[in-house]
Amino acid sequence: MLEIKVAPSILAGDFARMGETVKKLEENGADYIHCDVMDGNFVPTITFGSQMIEHIRPYTRLPLDCHLMVLRPDTRLEGFARAGADIVTVHVEECRELTVQTLRIIKNYGMRASAVINPNTPVEELFDCAEVADMLLLMSVHPGWGGQKFIPSSLEKIEKLRDFLVRNGRPELDIEVDGGITEDNVKDVISAGANVIVAGSAVFRSADIRATIGRLRGA
Ligand code: DX5
Ligand code: ZN
Repeated sequence: MLEIKVAPSILAGDFARMGETVKKLEENGADYIHCDVMDGNFVPTITFGSQMIEHIRPYTRLPLDCHLMVLRPDTRLEGFARAGADIVTVHVEECRELTVQTLRIIKNYGMRASAVINPNTPVEELFDCAEVADMLLLMSVHPGWGGQKFIPSSLEKIEKLRDFLVRNGRPELDIEVDGGITEDNVKDVISAGANVIVAGSAVFRSADIRATIGRLRGA
């Protein structure tokens, strides 16, 4: 059985209080801190870069799970390594045929490497990455904003990806899913084969963060 992990996205948090926020997430049972890095080019929104990672680093021991929604993520890897990132995820839509090579560079920096595809990208585009990646991420909303609705066809992609991993000698590889996950649909996401759950609004809109994180783990 794969361990289920919950990765709250600080995109839904108060940007003026990120240190306290990540500390509170750790105290309330989060497994990873999901950091949505957006450059205003790959996606229209601008959030933050490696400086934010460096500044929140002292506030938590949890792995900082950095989702890079930026152009030329390969030029940013050293900065994230220096800032203290633990997991770096890059988009196949941006890295294209250099995705596997980019994953290797991330690992050479001592970080865990992950690749992600958007909802309109076929899941087969991740298959080449399975051998090198420490995690694979499927977007279940179009990247750029929190608080969107989960795209139901994502479930088939999760199933296809888990099936591919099982048939190709990587049954235990983490599959992370990102976007629109709530306490109501998380069970479907987990039974389809995902085990790392990103949740922004579901966690930050909750009156009881600990209980919500527990329920998002399927507990
Ligand atoms: C979207 C981001 C997500 C987002 C998830 O571009 O990658 O991580 O913060 O937020 P919710 O859970 O609110 O959909
Ligand atoms: Zn994300």
